[in-house]
Amino acid sequence: MTNLTGKQIVLGVTGGIAAYKAAELTRLLRNAGASVRVAMTRAATAFVSPLTFQALSGNPVHTELLDTEEESAMGHISLARWADLVLIAPATADFIARLRIGLGDDLLSTVCLATRASIAVAPAMNQAMWDNPATQENVRCLSDRGVRILGPAEGDQACGEVGLGRLLEPQRICDELESFFGDGALAGLSVLISAGPTREPIDPVRYISNRSSGKMGYALAEAAARAGAKVSLVTGPTALKAPRVNEVSWVESAAEMYRCIMSKVPSADIYIGAAAVADYSPETAADRKIKKDQLEMVLTLRKTQDILSAVSALPKRPFTVGFAAETDDLENYARQKLVAKSLDMVAANWVGRDEGGFENDDNALFVCWNGGDTYLPLASKKTIAEQLIHLIAERYHAQNSAKDSR
Ligand code: CTP
Repeated sequence: MTNLTGKQIVLGVTGGIAAYKAAELTRLLRNAGASVRVAMTRAATAFVSPLTFQALSGNPVHTELLDTEEESAMGHISLARWADLVLIAPATADFIARLRIGLGDDLLSTVCLATRASIAVAPAMNQAMWDNPATQENVRCLSDRGVRILGPAEGDQACGEVGLGRLLEPQRICDELESFFGDGALAGLSVLISAGPTREPIDPVRYISNRSSGKMGYALAEAAARAGAKVSLVTGPTALKAPRVNEVSWVESAAEMYRCIMSKVPSADIYIGAAAVADYSPETAADRKIKKDQLEMVLTLRKTQDILSAVSALPKRPFTVGFAAETDDLENYARQKLVAKSLDMVAANWVGRDEGGFENDDNALFVCWNGGDTYLPLASKKTIAEQLIHLIAERYHAQNSAKDSR
């Protein structure tokens, strides 16, 4: 099961070289469980044959507005009503302009006019065309009207230029739609997540840090957004691309992360401390680069403020989830942390083993809360994040309905 299972998607293909990628997109959407009906503009049929889409979607392809045979099978109004979502991929600059002014001079534009479903647009065009103020204004206007704009991506273009204007990769489009159709386990809730390492400055060029990659925290942020939450991510320095969530704040040191989290936590329903916050920081950071003129050097480190404990000690605290990384006796340490930091849940992973932990793409977790625990066996961080978010949603709702019934 995915969020796309059973969803009905009209895939509009317009006339650009990226039209061939819509074939792969059709396959991915169907694999994810969606039903797909393809509507092509006349120009698109010059790039890819409708027969390709017919074979891949398992449905007849729609091309003509005034073809009586097509209209009697499933006309533009029925197609517009059938759709849970109309996705235009690739969308040319011309089609975006027509969508903006509301033309209905071919089948696809008419479906867009007639549908009450959401519309998503994945632009693909030459980078100068994308940059053109007319296109930019059209895109902004569509976005203001609630049309979701997916991409474009940056890179080599068919015309030989390099820049912004490539169609997002089909898998990425599919992921975006999955989040669009999120199951709503956290709908209406605000989730604050910390991720990545912190850097504790020694002098202007040196710092102490750790091996956290931020992958787990970022995957949790995306999974929470897919579950319908309003997500604010506070992240230390990572090499990762910012996830598509409501707000991303970049910080460096544990002290900065503390200030940032404490300023945002009053509006959070759930706090997930996935960051590997430095436990100690140099007592003072030199304001000039330290020269290597001494044989020995002593650094005095001072304990940082524990953000997680500060959050859980608030009088009006959010549902608070902490992480633990242990090399041994994982379950015991995790349960101790639950009590010591008075948390609602602890997610613990092994470090120094093959399975999961820092820098890895996979992870396995032992999760405990007051009155229960479970194992989430080794899987990709995306899958583990999905499972943990659902567990958090379950416990959050259980706790709140218990409070309500008191
Ligand atoms: N944490 C925090 N602020 C700190 C240090 C840690 O909020 N200054 C949070 C982390 O985000 C994580 C959890 O606390 O959720 C980790 O707990 P911690 O006690 O730091 O674990 P360890 O570093 O494993 O500590 P110990 O070895 O002492 O158990």
